[in-house]
Amino acid sequence: MARVKALVAGNWKMNGLKASKKELTALAKKLGKEKPGCDVLICPPATLIATLKDAAKGTKIAIGGQDCHAKESGAHTGDVSAEMLKDAGASYVIVGHSERRADHGETDADVKAKAEAAHRAGLVAIVCVGETEAQRDAGETLKIIKGQLKGSLPAGATAKTTVIAYEPVWAIGTGRTPTADDVAKVHAAIRKALDARFGAEGAKMRILYGGSVKPSNAAELMAVPNVNGALVGGASLKAEDFWGIVSAY
Ligand code: G3P
Repeated sequence: MARVKALVAGNWKMNGLKASKKELTALAKKLGKEKPGCDVLICPPATLIATLKDAAKGTKIAIGGQDCHAKESGAHTGDVSAEMLKDAGASYVIVGHSERRADHGETDADVKAKAEAAHRAGLVAIVCVGETEAQRDAGETLKIIKGQLKGSLPAGATAKTTVIAYEPVWAIGTGRTPTADDVAKVHAAIRKALDARFGAEGAKMRILYGGSVKPSNAAELMAVPNVNGALVGGASLKAEDFWGIVSAY
């Protein structure tokens, strides 16, 4: 198995005002003193990308967006392009989060177009996949995940340009997580699909787990084979909680 450096990414979702910069500064202080074995990323709302990028100067914390439009520019009121995110200081963007798939009806084809836009702009795309509780109960988890991967990943994806995030929808913000065995099964299936489609690149692609990751379960999840980091929601909002996860890596 290829050795892959872990990535711990915080998704602030629709949370954070300019004052939240203090959380990044506190995290940077912790990072300055100790050396985690992972890359660290914060994806704030688009309004805070430039502010946090500025606050992260001189640190190893990368900044990312939470979504981008598939087009470069044009008449798309309220949307933000990948190029704009890059211009504001982002180096990553999350695409296909289940909240966007559900709230905005985004399909696999939409997610793929967004990932392609991210790549054109020079951003790393974090492509999210995950089954709902009903799909899980129906025993369809692997079928759903494989279908989402097939439809959402662009043809030229490489380990440098693309990260996968497995987020079971029922585990997001609920405090519930799959067992380590269940996570291992899904991540192994994702790895197999990536290997089959992208060969050596697929073996190196990072596969993050997301859904109720906390300081108390980070070490256990991190130890699961093919888990190459975490995509963290609620526990990324406070520097102390997020550091508890980062330091587990
Ligand atoms: O993208 C991260 C997310 O959906 C997980 O959220 O709050 O369960 O960590 P949370």
